[in-house]
Amino acid sequence: MSKLIGNAIVGQSGGPTAAINATLAGVIRGVLENAHGGSIKTLYGMRNGVEGLLKENIVNLSEFFSDMDNISILEQTPAAALGSCRKKLPKIDEGRETYEKLIEIFQKYDIRYFFYIGGNDSMDTVAKLSEYTKECDYEMRVIGVPKTIDNDLVGTDHTPGFASAAKYIATTMTEIIRDCAVYTTKAVTVVEIMGRDAGWLTASAGIPKAFGGEVPDLIYLPERAFNKDEFFADLKVILEVKPNVVVAVSEGIRFADGTYVCEGFGIASTDVFGHKQLSGTAKALEVAIKNEFGCKVRSIELNLPQRCASHIASKTDIEESVLVGKAAVKAASEGVTRQMMTIERVSTNPYKVDVSHRDVSEIANKVKHVSDEFINERGNSVTDECARYLLPLIQGELDVKYENGIPKHVII
Ligand code: F6P
Repeated sequence: MSKLIGNAIVGQSGGPTAAINATLAGVIRGVLENAHGGSIKTLYGMRNGVEGLLKENIVNLSEFFSDMDNISILEQTPAAALGSCRKKLPKIDEGRETYEKLIEIFQKYDIRYFFYIGGNDSMDTVAKLSEYTKECDYEMRVIGVPKTIDNDLVGTDHTPGFASAAKYIATTMTEIIRDCAVYTTKAVTVVEIMGRDAGWLTASAGIPKAFGGEVPDLIYLPERAFNKDEFFADLKVILEVKPNVVVAVSEGIRFADGTYVCEGFGIASTDVFGHKQLSGTAKALEVAIKNEFGCKVRSIELNLPQRCASHIASKTDIEESVLVGKAAVKAASEGVTRQMMTIERVSTNPYKVDVSHRDVSEIANKVKHVSDEFINERGNSVTDECARYLLPLIQGELDVKYENGIPKHVII
């Protein structure tokens, strides 16, 4: 493979996470620390993913991060420092002008390396762009770098960003369980957790099972149809033996006919990927439980804090995210293209992973669901095996740098 010398560009796409900037930091480190053996001259960043790139909204990251201290602060900064988008590139045959515009920009900035940090929809962009650059004979290495709190990318053991959200969820659920245990009056608390199609995040509420810790009494994932009658029956049994019941539900749970539970309260809208924007599942259940049982009911939507709570990020997650970003730079300089970086689990105990890569077309637009052996038979909790599998991912805490009592962030 001949050496490809030129500039690189990196972008972030899809929903943010507490670790997506750590992956960006990994790419920046990879370039500045010369993991590419002299192939990459300047690293640019696209603002708001391909949406900003098409408007030539570009920032010179080599210049911005010439002070290495800023890179470690970037690793503890939540959200997407370059901004994000939910834009899907058109099918090549239906939107050639979009691709021609992109090539024009690549030529103008001599961009030969393209790193896109995102989830399964963003991998679709990576797949289409690699196809087009090949078709028009523009030599460019296109690499997908995974991220999503949903952990629903196939081909990788887990996805950077998931573990930090999982650590927040497991921790917050433990705290909620503590708080709910104080009164003797009957009460039900329903906690709604993100994850549109896959229940990995909600399953994380069950992680303390791995060490005999307390977990929500009932846990519902989108992998199983939600049955209101069974739910009420289970709730009734638990309320007879304890006054305080805590229930964890995924925002994406649906009834057997495919209707989202939150649809009882109306769904706001659909995003550009055609995904329904979900929320209100816990609220819908709060009303239903109140009507059925007449007891005190509270609903909590973990909402954005579960994906931006960097102060409690998983050290394992942040370290892996940096590693994956760096590895992407190295792989691209060695000739890898049209691939997504992956994390392969070598062993769970002791926990050990390797970083590798796979053909992005095998990954784009697919969803990795929580496996059957991780969900209990009644479909109202997770198994101990699931908890043991997830536990290593949430290990370790960052030495977060604070200023004025608040964690420091980098704003690009
Ligand atoms: O990216 C995944 C995710 O965080 C989902 O868990 C959630 O349903 C969705 O994004 C929310 O998207 P947005 O922030 O665009 O409303």
